[in-house]
Amino acid sequence: MKKLTGLNKYKTAVFISGTGSNLKNLIKFSIKKNSPISINLVVSSNKLAKGLKYADNKKIHKVVFNYLKQEKTEKKILNILFKKKIKLICLAGFMKILSKNFIKKFNGKILNIHPSLLPKYKGLNTHERALINGEKFSGCTVHYVSNQLDSGKIILQKKIKIKKNESIFTLKNKILKEEHKLYPKAIKRVLSNL
Ligand code: GRF
Repeated sequence: MKKLTGLNKYKTAVFISGTGSNLKNLIKFSIKKNSPISINLVVSSNKLAKGLKYADNKKIHKVVFNYLKQEKTEKKILNILFKKKIKLICLAGFMKILSKNFIKKFNGKILNIHPSLLPKYKGLNTHERALINGEKFSGCTVHYVSNQLDSGKIILQKKIKIKKNESIFTLKNKILKEEHKLYPKAIKRVLSNL
């Protein structure tokens, strides 16, 4: 991989819809000296997303779209991404499904983090479903985004043990902690293969 300085870091956009703990963590990662990315844009599908405050704190350009008209919205987002020369998109709790056309434009450059050991438990309520099914393990996965929900090629996964008295809350927090370690690792891996 070529030597990265602040000037030639991969310009990255993070897409969120909610709390934004992964966004916060990716911002922290991006400002490390040896990080391969800079975060130049935050896209939110929700104007009330708590995570937007992390963009404000670091004066990162942010845009909010209500996504009522997906095609129009994606066109606008793509324009901003191209204008800002964004090279990598990290979905982090983004609750909208990107269209085929959008994915094609950034093929192989869109990553997502999902709170389960994919291919198990795609979609929502992963922790609840893992507990109901009496799973002994769960975890998180970073994968490329493809046309099928939570189904793109897996980049990295972290497995954790589910305790006997685990609740949705404790499991979610335990996995979130791992997500915050896994996402930066996966980004490094992806970019070192380019
Ligand atoms: C994370 O569990 C992520 O894996 C999933 O949505 C959650 C987002 O959390 N896709 P946060 O908004 O980053 O705190």
